[in-house]
Amino acid sequence: MTAVVKKAIFPVAGLGTRFLPATKANPKEMLPVVDKPLIQYAAEEAEAAGITELIFVTGRSKNSIIDHFDKAYELEAELEKKQKDQMLEIVRNILPPNISCIYIRQPEPLGLGHAILCAKPVIDNEPFAILLADDLIDGKEKGCLSQMVDVFDRYNSGVIAVERVPQEDTDKYGIVEVQNLEGKLSRIKSIVEKPDPSEAPSNLAVVGRYILPPIIMDILEKTGKGAGGEIQLTDAIATLLQKKEVHAWEFEGTRYDCGSKLGYLQATVEYALKHPELKGDFEHYLTTFADCLKNTA
Ligand code: UTP
Repeated sequence: MTAVVKKAIFPVAGLGTRFLPATKANPKEMLPVVDKPLIQYAAEEAEAAGITELIFVTGRSKNSIIDHFDKAYELEAELEKKQKDQMLEIVRNILPPNISCIYIRQPEPLGLGHAILCAKPVIDNEPFAILLADDLIDGKEKGCLSQMVDVFDRYNSGVIAVERVPQEDTDKYGIVEVQNLEGKLSRIKSIVEKPDPSEAPSNLAVVGRYILPPIIMDILEKTGKGAGGEIQLTDAIATLLQKKEVHAWEFEGTRYDCGSKLGYLQATVEYALKHPELKGDFEHYLTTFADCLKNTA
């Protein structure tokens, strides 16, 4: 029987130090891009790809994520009383009825690999997806995870989303060495976490979307601390490559690194320019402001 990817892990227990002080008491995954928190964009991308179980690996100060996906009785009653039907619809539809959520606590932020391992008890023997919500991906025609599920359905293998980055930035990403199969699809030969640009095997960087086989959990259990003293998912994937085939998919669409201030601002501007309520006024504001900047330069 062909495996189906039904579960997705959202590791949201990181400290978000690049966004302090905003992330001191609030998770970075709850930062809004226009009017929706990052974690909701990621959940919607997963749902569109056929995921029905959302597994959140949370940490301290992350309770607002749980509240966001919970029913809000008082708010709904108030909106109903005031006949704010459109808002009520938005609040009620944050989570479609066929989707369930599981919350697991990562006791200490020991790294992405450790966060994933915390979800082992609920993964069973199934392939699963991982979405890092601070990588906001506008997949244009089709969401990034849906594109990856298509690859998974064809090969029944692990799939990792990748994109080309400037060579000087390889030390910020997991980098893969690949053998190209066709177009945007490759087979991964090796993977290394944050290599120095002079030693990087390519400029194909891993972004925050993965589909992995359950055996990765057993591998993670035996994976020691790696770069930055953290348990790295990249190191476990390097071991996985010795046992199983994993594909790299150069996704179609645009990624915004919303874990960085610049990427977050770019996402906010570009999503606002597409927002049905805002686009006209916001575009007018931006063009006027850009003219102002030109005139004062
Ligand atoms: P990042 O490398 O972006 O780290 O984690 P961070 O702590 O969130 O942010 P900075 O770099 O300090 O600003 C990548 C993903 O892994 C999760 C994060 O929540 C993020 O989704 N993560 C990281 C965990 O869940 N636990 C960890 O121990 C580390």
